[in-house]
Amino acid sequence: MSDPRNFYVTTPIYYINDAPHIGHAYTTVICDAFSRYHRMRGREVRFQTGTDEHGQKAAASAEKQGITPQQLADRNVKRFQDLWTALGISHDDFIRTTEERHLKGAQKLWFRIAHSGDIYKGSYSGPYCVGCEAYYPESQLDDGKCPEAAHHEVKVLEEESYFFKLSRYQEHLLDLYKRNPDFVTPPSRLNEVKRFVEGGLDDLSVSRTSFEWGVPVPGDEKHVMYVWIEALSNYITALGYGSADEELFHRLWPAELQVVGKDILRFHAVYWPAFLMAAGLEPPKEVLAHGWWNKDGEKMSKTKGNVANPFDLVEWFGKDPVRWYLLKEKALGADGNYSEEALIDRANTDLANDLGNTLSRVTRIVSANLGGRVPAAPASDGLAGRSKEAWSEWTAAFEENDPQTALRAAWGLLDATNKFLVREEPWKLAKDESQAERLGQVMHDSAEAVRHVALMALPAIPDSVARIFATLGLGEPPAELGFDPAQGAPWGFPQGGEAVAHGDPLFPRIDKKAFFAEEAAAPKPKKNETKEKPPVAETETEGVITIDDVMKVQLRTAVVKSASKHPDADKLIVLELDDGSGEPRTICAGVAAFYQPEELLGRTIVVVANLKPRKLRGIPSQGMLLAANYEEDGAEKVRVITLPDGTPPGAEVR
Ligand code: ME8
Ligand code: MG
Repeated sequence: MSDPRNFYVTTPIYYINDAPHIGHAYTTVICDAFSRYHRMRGREVRFQTGTDEHGQKAAASAEKQGITPQQLADRNVKRFQDLWTALGISHDDFIRTTEERHLKGAQKLWFRIAHSGDIYKGSYSGPYCVGCEAYYPESQLDDGKCPEAAHHEVKVLEEESYFFKLSRYQEHLLDLYKRNPDFVTPPSRLNEVKRFVEGGLDDLSVSRTSFEWGVPVPGDEKHVMYVWIEALSNYITALGYGSADEELFHRLWPAELQVVGKDILRFHAVYWPAFLMAAGLEPPKEVLAHGWWNKDGEKMSKTKGNVANPFDLVEWFGKDPVRWYLLKEKALGADGNYSEEALIDRANTDLANDLGNTLSRVTRIVSANLGGRVPAAPASDGLAGRSKEAWSEWTAAFEENDPQTALRAAWGLLDATNKFLVREEPWKLAKDESQAERLGQVMHDSAEAVRHVALMALPAIPDSVARIFATLGLGEPPAELGFDPAQGAPWGFPQGGEAVAHGDPLFPRIDKKAFFAEEAAAPKPKKNETKEKPPVAETETEGVITIDDVMKVQLRTAVVKSASKHPDADKLIVLELDDGSGEPRTICAGVAAFYQPEELLGRTIVVVANLKPRKLRGIPSQGMLLAANYEEDGAEKVRVITLPDGTPPGAEVR
């Protein structure tokens, strides 16, 4: 049944300064599954993803690597595009924010907002998070760091800036949430957004003069558009907004669904609709915020080095097991813990056992006893009713953006099919000629149920479904269902195709033990491992060092001459020391949570004198002090090592 509704769905556009990881793959796989579902429903689908290439972070990252930001973007965008190929992503468009079409559209959006009087020039000063590319009000900082899960460092910036009158939109936004309770899903996220908006909205700084890597503000090219107003506009610029031909934009906007991680919900559910309203455009119909993948209970991040590389996963396990795991393992709104062990278990249980074994059971019996032909079977009581139920559950779940439940519904039918086979024992029927008709019915229903399960699994594992169809002698899976799945699928295995084939298992079992053993046998080289290690005497034990090693560390006494809190870092105290050398020495010590600066004044401490100096939040630190670190009643404790008064500065400690 063809449905006149359009389905325009978007992923966030991903930053190009890092390599793609499993989190990026997650959002994109979700959108891919939704797109495939809606294509099956006969809807006009437009699935868009892309990359966010401008901004201070990209410029800084390029500079560090000695290349231009455009070169950095060109290099890294390929990694995202290659990953989408590896994962079988079926997007219709990939927008890069450095493309001309984006630049024009972003400038048009700005112009329209400015025209409505919602942009004014001012000066902005406040804590700025380079990681999020956002200013955060002091009140929102978390222990002096950015409030997002990553807790990036922030620094105070001041510059001339254009502002967007976000404060004017509080009522409009609350009204939008009220009129359209599905504007943000799941509902718990809508409540969060509402509370935020009810708390009052400050105007938003929307331009920068402090860097150049961005889209120039129309009419004032000293400014570039601050990255969020620019980045968000990708969702319409890719449809031709701001170009000579806005037909696609008029046809597909507002988007049916914008999928984001919960980390960037506020930008999409508060700022974005406000920008759009200011420009006289409609907000999207729904913003869906999914939960977070953690690893071993921690947020995945590059600095922690615990990021799963999706390319490796596809290489190790194949694209469909990875897609399956992402879609089936956790509820979309919830957070989940990522692990390769769980991925292997999922693939072995759901795909190898349930789906693969059922398929091969069916094809084996049909090949051996029915000449490879699934017989036509008239009205049967077998699995038709169960299939109908599964289809209606599947449809309802996908309509509610719940792929996990949809796939469970499909597996419910698969489970019923297995039980049916066990109960009917076709392998026994095959030995009794008087049961030929019954055998035909049982195998028809089983094969037909597997075909239905495969269709329902198509949004998640399209390649495998194509193979199932080929195995069942059915050619390519259909592009559209051609029926209303809420009412169930017509029951009857298509006749006259190729014979069913009984070949290699569809999903070979992954040997978990071997997988982890191989990993252990060939550990990835650690970063700081030097190539040539000096030969180690047999008696030496790991972790034991020689006196020469000890002597490398120069420990000296020093007297604290002044002590004050670091102006930009809550955890640090800045100490001016007399280390006996005649030159003052400054160190930044991470003890502010345990000492008032005055408590350290005049004390004689021990410092590592030959540590390479480094800047800590703008203040150079020449060495470190020694302190005992321990835990007491579950709380972290730190005690600085001090010497009795009268110990002279500069004494060697050994
Ligand atoms: O924020 N678990 O880009 P980004 C689940 N350019 N999803 C995750 C994840 C995880 N551990 N890590 C990342 C940006 N994601 C901006 C967006 S849009 C106009 C601009 C996914 O590269 C999730 O979708 O930091 C999250 O919202 C997105 O990647 C952030 O990607
Ligand atoms: Mg991010």
